[in-house]
Amino acid sequence: VSFLLIFRSIVGRNERLTTIDMLSFEFKNPVKLIFGEGQIEKLKEEVPQDAKVLILYGGGSVKKNGILDQVKVALKGNYYEEFGGILANPEYSVLVEALEVIKTKNIDYLLAVGGGSVIDGVKFLSSAALFEGDNPWDILSKRIRTEKGMPFGCVLTIPATGSEMNSGAVISRSEIKEKLSMGGPGLFPQFSILDPQVIATLPLRQIQNGIADAFVHVLEQYVTYPVDAWLQDRLSESILSTLIELAPRILEDPKDAKAASNFMWSCTMALNGLIQKGVPSDWGVHMIGHELTALYGIDHARTLAIVLEPYYKHQFEQKKEKLAQLGTRVFQLSGMSEEEIARQTINKIIEFMHSIGIPTKLSEYTDDYDGVDDIIAKRFEERGWLKMGERKDIGPAQVRTILQQSY
Ligand code: NZQ
Ligand code: ZN
Repeated sequence: VSFLLIFRSIVGRNERLTTIDMLSFEFKNPVKLIFGEGQIEKLKEEVPQDAKVLILYGGGSVKKNGILDQVKVALKGNYYEEFGGILANPEYSVLVEALEVIKTKNIDYLLAVGGGSVIDGVKFLSSAALFEGDNPWDILSKRIRTEKGMPFGCVLTIPATGSEMNSGAVISRSEIKEKLSMGGPGLFPQFSILDPQVIATLPLRQIQNGIADAFVHVLEQYVTYPVDAWLQDRLSESILSTLIELAPRILEDPKDAKAASNFMWSCTMALNGLIQKGVPSDWGVHMIGHELTALYGIDHARTLAIVLEPYYKHQFEQKKEKLAQLGTRVFQLSGMSEEEIARQTINKIIEFMHSIGIPTKLSEYTDDYDGVDDIIAKRFEERGWLKMGERKDIGPAQVRTILQQSY
């Protein structure tokens, strides 16, 4: 899955809804997934013996919970260096320091031990390490697609983003309050190890975030217009239903092994490209949400929860057929008109966010929201992001209206 493609909202046709067929597609996902309890030791079989490895991690959770020790034991036959401190919303200035280490130590293999933030940071480094231009920021600001990156693997420590099985990344630069995406076929991990036991030490807030992020990933690829992609629709619906089923269990007890493994696999499946094939996708909620993280530092998943309701209400006419299908099949709504079911489905989505403890109004995160609609609309204008959404009908003016309803 090319993240650049995803975020460009590939398709926007305007034919009558019911006459559109499944779209043509190509699908290649080369990531080797190694899933299950106790699988981290398999690292030694995946990282080449002669590789000069840089192990990268976040703010230190992997030291406290013993994951980093497990990684080091598995890599004891290898040459490796370490680089910690890639915090949530991976920061360009920190990554530039890591790039220095890669160059001075002649590193040729990267290992991300963390969540979306560390993995995305490593994807940036994978690209930047082989980048021939002068300024690696260009990869983000000029949206340069990465055809070939330095090889890397992942040990996932938090289910949420799907970054472990896709080729996209999102990088922040706080000095200019930017958060931009990048990607390309060169940025798939060589392998990703998914041990659901890592969930046991996650703070409640991060479990809530993971559920919400994966849920919205599916929505972005599903709540568009029907193209008679029966299988993709049912795959999406089953991920949503699984998340709804496991949410109360994993929130109650992160050591619940059944809920943990289903949680982890659902998050990966939500954004590894499969459910997006042959169907239109939107990604407008993410694009607006990223701006809220850039401006306020609000957790990624929570920004999505803020944007969802006003976004779907604004796009109601365009999205009501899929909303109604979602309401009928996932939320078991019936006995109303299709239009009413579609409206109730938006309420159900918001109720679900509340049920997992995620506030959905911007004012619940900051008091400083006056004028944010103008700031973000202007940014979209400047970047030329004028035609977002599956129908390319969302531009700066629509973004402004949507944000005005988010406070
Ligand atoms: O930094 P440490 O100390 O490791 O703590 C982390 C971090 O504070 C903690 N954590 C992770 N695993 C843990 C743990 N704490 C205890 N036990 C564990 N096992 O959790 C916090 C959040 O980590 P982070 O990696 O930021 O979370 P997430 O996986 O939600 O990633 C969010 C980032 O991914 C981007 C987001 O924008 C954001 O920057 N996204 C990436 C996508 C992609 N590449 O496909 C798609 C998404 O839509 C998203 O935009
Ligand atoms: Zn997301």
